[in-house]
Parts: sequence; structure tokens; C-alpha cells
Amino acid sequence: MEELISKLNTLLSSIYVQRANIQAAHWNIKGCHAFITFHNYYGELYDYNSTHIDMLAEFVRIYGGTPTSTLTAFLVQSTVSEASAPAVNDVQASIQENLLSNANIHAQLMGVFKASDEAPDVNDYMAAMIADFGKRSWFLRSSSKVEPAKPSANLGEGLVKPEA
Ligand SMILES: [Fe+2]
Repeated sequence: MEELISKLNTLLSSIYVQRANIQAAHWNIKGCHAFITFHNYYGELYDYNSTHIDMLAEFVRIYGGTPTSTLTAFLVQSTVSEASAPAVNDVQASIQENLLSNANIHAQLMGVFKASDEAPDVNDYMAAMIADFGKRSWFLRSSSKVEPAKPSANLGEGLVKPEA
């Protein structure tokens, strides 16, 4: 179970940092046509991340580990980097940043899914999150006016931070 607990803590940390990034965009996004849409949508996304942060930490406890729980440790363990302007106030930049962090987290979700054969509750939860993150990326791609940035080849490992 050690591998599973380690992967869950990395995922928990990444989703925690992504939530902070999304909440910053929810507060700071600008645009006369885009503000209401993205303020509301990013509000939904960080609520979604909050729900999963709690469940991922509880899975760590259920399987005998200690969930990562300090801001310092979240930043060290996260494979998603903190976002700053323009990724939190420009619509197109925030979409690109979210697409990269979603690709990063999607790869981690697949890793936890594959490592959770003996934890069917985690396995089922990962399957649902994989579907949700796929849908999230589709919404963001469809909202983007430009071709989405392609994740680097290493991003598939879920171990490489997207460039700031
Ligand atoms: Fe709000």
C-alpha cells in the first residue's frame, strides 16, 4: 500500500495547488464578455477540487497513511506549479494553464487507478475523476480561441511540472 499512499499524497498536493490557482483566477479573471462565465465556471471547479481534496486525504487515512496537510508540503509534493498573472487574470492564459495542469493531474489519476487493484474504493473513485477531468479539459479546449499548448512528452509520467 506504500506506493498507493505516496501516489495519493502527490495527487492530493497537486489538486490542492490547482485549487489555489483556480480560485485566484475566479477572483481575478477579467474580460467584458468572459468575466461572468469564467468567474462562475472557475467557482464550480474549485468547489469540485475541494470535495476531492477531502476524499483523497481520507483514502490515505483509510489505507494507513498520513495525508499531506501543510502548505509547504503541498507545494513540495505537487507536480502542478503555482500560477501567477497572466494565468490568473487573462482568460486565454488561464485556459492554457488549466489545460496543462489538467493533463498533469489526468496522468496522475491514471497512475493511481493502475496502482489501486487492491483498493476498489480508490479504483472506482479514480475512474469517476478521470471522466470528470476529461470533461473539464474538453470544456476548456472548446472555450479556447487558440490551439491548446501541448503537454511535454514527460508530462505523461505525471512527474514534470508545467512551465510557468
Ligand atoms: Fe466566489
